[in-house]
Amino acid sequence: MIEELLPPRVACVETTDDHVVTLFPEERAAVAGAVEKRRREFSTARWCARQALRRLDMPPTPIVPGRRGAPSWPAAVVGSITHCAGFRAAAVAHQRDLLTLGIDAEPNEPLSPGVFETISTPDERDEHRMLGKFGSVCWDRMLFSIKESVYKAWYPVTHQFLDFAEATVRIDAERRTFHAELHAPPAHVSGVRVAAFTGRWAASEGLLVSAIAVPSRRYLPTAHEDRAWPVARAGR
Ligand SMILES: CC(C)(COP(=O)(O)OP(=O)(O)OC[C@H]1O[C@@H](n2cnc3c(N)ncnc32)[C@H](O)[C@@H]1OP(=O)(O)O)[C@@H](O)C(=O)NCCC(=O)NCCS
Repeated sequence: MIEELLPPRVACVETTDDHVVTLFPEERAAVAGAVEKRRREFSTARWCARQALRRLDMPPTPIVPGRRGAPSWPAAVVGSITHCAGFRAAAVAHQRDLLTLGIDAEPNEPLSPGVFETISTPDERDEHRMLGKFGSVCWDRMLFSIKESVYKAWYPVTHQFLDFAEATVRIDAERRTFHAELHAPPAHVSGVRVAAFTGRWAASEGLLVSAIAVPSRRYLPTAHEDRAWPVARAGR
């Protein structure tokens, strides 16, 4: 599901089953005191990440939660992880191609009472009223997923927390895209000004997924890639 939202040079592996994987000692230590559910999602996400890294011809390396929980990827690799009930995924790419990546999956269920008001801006609440007519998507949860993808793409390149009020998301229900305007001071990363993110979303099999992939300055899409991933440059 998520792979279809990402450009061809991103390796994305997702699964609906839990998988047995040998964790590195540092990974084992990271979940030593965790409950079984957390150990399972953590391990299966590492399984996904190892498979995805292999597609980039990278050997397995420990992927441990670092500062504020951001996963540690091998040098010159960017990536993102998500897990929710019945779904786990990891996406990785070479840094020469992508500046950053953010993926998120959520159940297609309404948020608990009061949460939408906490995570949304007034503009987003206005838009939410209009989106109601588009299909069976729980738009409040979709907004949440998109904001989680925004944070996962933002944090690794800025090392700054981003509050829910610091992004205003506009969802295009027909094109299945979104645009997130950031209200935090823009970041300048490897020559790219990061003040907004553009991404894609999907809803299927009881899940909502969203993804952001920001191309690096050196990313030169082939004609085929440009057709397959027309939002590549809009992410800047
Ligand atoms: C960290 C957070 C984004 C995780 O999202 P989630 O929907 O709860 O959980 P998911 O299962 O989809 O994602 C978990 C994965 O996110 C990744 N992650 C955690 N913190 C991260 C960070 N600071 N930066 C990038 N990725 C991070 C990790 O890989 C984690 O999996 P792991 O612990 O197995 O490695 C969320 O819990 C959070 O803290 N949000 C507050 C900040 C925010 O969302 N701001 C909105 C800005 S508009």
